[in-house]
Amino acid sequence: MKREEIVVPEGEIARQRDFQKKIRTMFQSRGAHPLARVETFGCQQNVADGQRLMGMLEEMGFAFTEDAGEANLVLLNTCAIREHAEQRVFGNLGILTHSKKENPEQVIVLCGCMAQEERVAKRVRESYRHVDLVFGPQALWRFPELLWQVYETKKRVFSIADEHGGIAEGLPVVRERGVKAWVSIMYGCNNFCSYCIVPYVRGRERSRESAAVLAEVRELVEAGYKDITLLGQNVNSYGNDLDTGYHFPDLLEDIDKIPGDYWVRFMSSHPKDATPRLFDVMAKCPHVAEQLHLPFQSGNDRVLGEMNRRYTRGTYLELIHYARSVMPGLVVTSDVIIGFPGETEAEAMDTVSLVEEVGFDALFTFIYSPRPGTKAAELPDPVPREEKQKWFDHLLEVQNARSAEIHAGYVGKTVRVLVDGESEDGDYPLSSRTEGNRLVRLKGDKSLIGRFLDVKITGSNTWALYGEAV
Ligand code: 5AD
Ligand code: SF4
Repeated sequence: MKREEIVVPEGEIARQRDFQKKIRTMFQSRGAHPLARVETFGCQQNVADGQRLMGMLEEMGFAFTEDAGEANLVLLNTCAIREHAEQRVFGNLGILTHSKKENPEQVIVLCGCMAQEERVAKRVRESYRHVDLVFGPQALWRFPELLWQVYETKKRVFSIADEHGGIAEGLPVVRERGVKAWVSIMYGCNNFCSYCIVPYVRGRERSRESAAVLAEVRELVEAGYKDITLLGQNVNSYGNDLDTGYHFPDLLEDIDKIPGDYWVRFMSSHPKDATPRLFDVMAKCPHVAEQLHLPFQSGNDRVLGEMNRRYTRGTYLELIHYARSVMPGLVVTSDVIIGFPGETEAEAMDTVSLVEEVGFDALFTFIYSPRPGTKAAELPDPVPREEKQKWFDHLLEVQNARSAEIHAGYVGKTVRVLVDGESEDGDYPLSSRTEGNRLVRLKGDKSLIGRFLDVKITGSNTWALYGEAV
């Protein structure tokens, strides 16, 4: 597709602002102060989308509430990555029949990745008749227009056409207060890993213009945000669709030139597109955090092939080896799937041995969950769940021991952290992060939130470090 067809024209965004105004005026004319309950499930990309949806709602005159009972509008921004995520959403939708009965004027919105699945839309159409509006991630920027249709026609609206997806600049946003911010640098995915639903629900890869990304990061730094995460399903293919020869490492180098006291990190990276140049740039740019989330999914080459990952165990290990050679303190995390269809115990143990070989600081581990519509969901899957659970538990044991060991290695050292909020631990009331994004619970008072500090690490466990300011 041509770039002009992908970038949403400014006039279209202005039209959406008109719909926002119409809705605002509608409530004002009734003397109403509408409330919205927004609930986001899933990954950081969804969190970022949720913040845009809240931005639009705010411009329509909504304030926010946690209580669905008192809300004029309830929006569920959903995730489709595993079955469990979908079940939770259906559970929540079921509960909303009560609030809708009490308050028939309440508008219920289902959006995000699940909403884009035909199977889900069908089920909602037939069995969840209290849902008023359904739209997928590609239609996010049209939310004001779709919502206006609901108010005007009093009919249910479904906007789930299979779309390539656009890029909409200039949408309003409600960010969390604090020090962390998310910046989407690209949308969609072209990789079609055989287990994954994302390419089917988020459309094709499309990169934002670097100037727009740079302007957004600069604005965030100037507004006081200190921990900025660049988001994309595969940030390493940033720019491939722009055909300008400008790639992700170039973007990192340019962001690094923005003056200020901040860290910038990114997720996720696909190993097939990670290059030594990326690691060289990370090593030399002071603002770029020495932290790498590089999902490997499986340590067995046959399984990697079946997953359509397009790298091998050997090339993955080489990448980690190179990255560590230029960044000795690099914090490395990864995603893993156990129990891919047809995976044998020996193959699962190859995954465990890769985990042992690399020594990840932390790992996000999943048991394979079939996603209807993906290639893997068609494969025979003879291994019983209990068997997969055993492999999974073994993997967790190995990883937890390693995380605990790596964390214990911090004790006695002084590290720089960013204090990012309060913690639930009474003895260590503050939460902070190292450059590598390790959690450090701290003694100290709230006035330290938002500051970089040198802290001495005094204790640790599998999940966190404990420290005191020096
Ligand atoms: N089943 C289990 N885990 C999955 N992931 C993606 N799709 C599936 C699936 N069908 C995991 C991958 C990915 C992470 C975001 O979720 O490990 O990296
Ligand atoms: Fe899914 Fe693979 Fe794309 Fe990641 S790279 S979103 S796992 S298809």
